[in-house]
Amino acid sequence: MTRLVIDPVTRVGGHLRIEVEHSGGVVSDAWSSGTMYRGMESILLGRDPREAWLLAQRVCGACTGVHAMASVRAVENALGVTIPRNARSIRNLFMGSEFVLDHVVHFYHQQVLDWIDPVSALTADPAATSGLARSLSARPGSNVAYFRDARDRLSRFIESGGSGPFVDDGPGQTGAASSPETSLMVMAHYLEALDWQRRVVQMQTLLGGKSPHPQMYLVGGAVVPVPWGGPQPAPPREHPGQIDQRAPAALSVEGLAAMSAVAAEAKAFVEQVYVPDVVAIARANPGWTQLGRGYGNYLSFGEFPLDDSNTPDLLLPTGRIMGGDLATVESIDQVNVAEAVAHSWYTYGDDENASLHPSKGLTDPRYTGPPPPFTTLAGSDGYSWLKAPRYREEPMEVGPLARVLVAYVQGSRVVRERVDDVVTRLGLAPDALFSTLGRMVARAIEAQVVADQLDGWVAELKATLASGDLAVADLSRWEPETWPSEAKGVSLGEGPRGAVGHWLTIADQRIAAYQIVDATTWNASPRDASGRRGATEEALIGTPVADPERPVEILRTVRSFDPCTACGVQ
Ligand code: NI
Repeated sequence: MTRLVIDPVTRVGGHLRIEVEHSGGVVSDAWSSGTMYRGMESILLGRDPREAWLLAQRVCGACTGVHAMASVRAVENALGVTIPRNARSIRNLFMGSEFVLDHVVHFYHQQVLDWIDPVSALTADPAATSGLARSLSARPGSNVAYFRDARDRLSRFIESGGSGPFVDDGPGQTGAASSPETSLMVMAHYLEALDWQRRVVQMQTLLGGKSPHPQMYLVGGAVVPVPWGGPQPAPPREHPGQIDQRAPAALSVEGLAAMSAVAAEAKAFVEQVYVPDVVAIARANPGWTQLGRGYGNYLSFGEFPLDDSNTPDLLLPTGRIMGGDLATVESIDQVNVAEAVAHSWYTYGDDENASLHPSKGLTDPRYTGPPPPFTTLAGSDGYSWLKAPRYREEPMEVGPLARVLVAYVQGSRVVRERVDDVVTRLGLAPDALFSTLGRMVARAIEAQVVADQLDGWVAELKATLASGDLAVADLSRWEPETWPSEAKGVSLGEGPRGAVGHWLTIADQRIAAYQIVDATTWNASPRDASGRRGATEEALIGTPVADPERPVEILRTVRSFDPCTACGVQ
């Protein structure tokens, strides 16, 4: 039995440490640890609940809008506020574009270097690469000159010496079966995705003023002004070539047109570039449908309300699947969520083995790990700043795979069509998605399902405004004098990385209790009081370790969860 430590895990959010034991070239046990304490739940205590979202979104520099929205929804739930239709459209547009952006960026800029070899791309034949790209996608412009230019840019990059992520680590780096042409195709799109994300993030900067940390959230709706007097023509530029940095107001004619253009660009890239590239990687690595399965327990809180009722239809529905049983989706209830700290660096006082519902949760840090510098954490009772959330005491996986499976089994037409299309192209059955590769494929499927909706939400916003309904917020409960002396609220929703819940208690107009259970808290959780591993820990069991000096197989499975440890520890 040999211990192997990866710390820090790079190309993820936050400070994640993975320890495994392996023997005979296979992982036999695993420990997932968040190594930085943040304490946002404690910082929120005593604050005005209307400003909680501004702080809550600071748990992360990537998932900012996710926690801003979860926070305003929890306060709205506590105070009994219903947001107007325009605010729902605005929130769907913002979060929808965040899903698409995060999924594309995760694939190209965090994950794909585990699956291809950028250095081998320099030996690729641009003509053969163009042929490969055209066999996968009808995208215009995938010609020989495009791939020759990409190869030349990549070559200059790698030869300049300042290209750490691309440096050849030897064959152990990938062990993947991607050809030089596949690597060149994907690396050309890697470079293009850098420009693409700069343009697509404009959905968020138009609505939220900036990214990260958007400013348009508001308890009751959104702070997005409806312009008086219609759009004004922009004054002429002072000199030729000057970049016009003024953005139109989001809800002006130009702003809505700009958002439509972003929606179209997002959808085209996902459909013509991202999904075909994922198909190419998946075809080259069929063995990875057999690895990284884990428990097969999938939980979705659901997201993207499609109407204004109290129990709206959701684009991605709520529910859970247990043990990989694709015949049944169980309905869920937030009362069944509880967090344990038996193996975390927190104390619950008298009963360290308790599981607490988040409405009664505690965040009382108590480090019990070895003093630094240490070589290993495993063996210590506590080994993480993440708590261990469980649903009915069961560890659950959350994220795109969970959402896609729950939607698939519930019969969502838009999800079924996309899943069936992709698994047919791969020659797989849907249960092949219970895997490391499946998480990558499900993320791409979900990006397409959400990207398909964006322009519809712009059209919905236009139509509501055109009907004369200009409300973007309900401020009837804004004044604290209108609040009860005590109120409890909860929000269950989804961010790109999975299910997110915020629970709070308002007492005497201030926050008396605040608990966050983030997607990565579920996925990267340590063991619970009964010693059951978290979802990532379990998924690592059985993972091959071809070269302990370059444990890329472990990283493939860890990164397939798209962990954001900053959010996980809060
Ligand atoms: Ni995050």
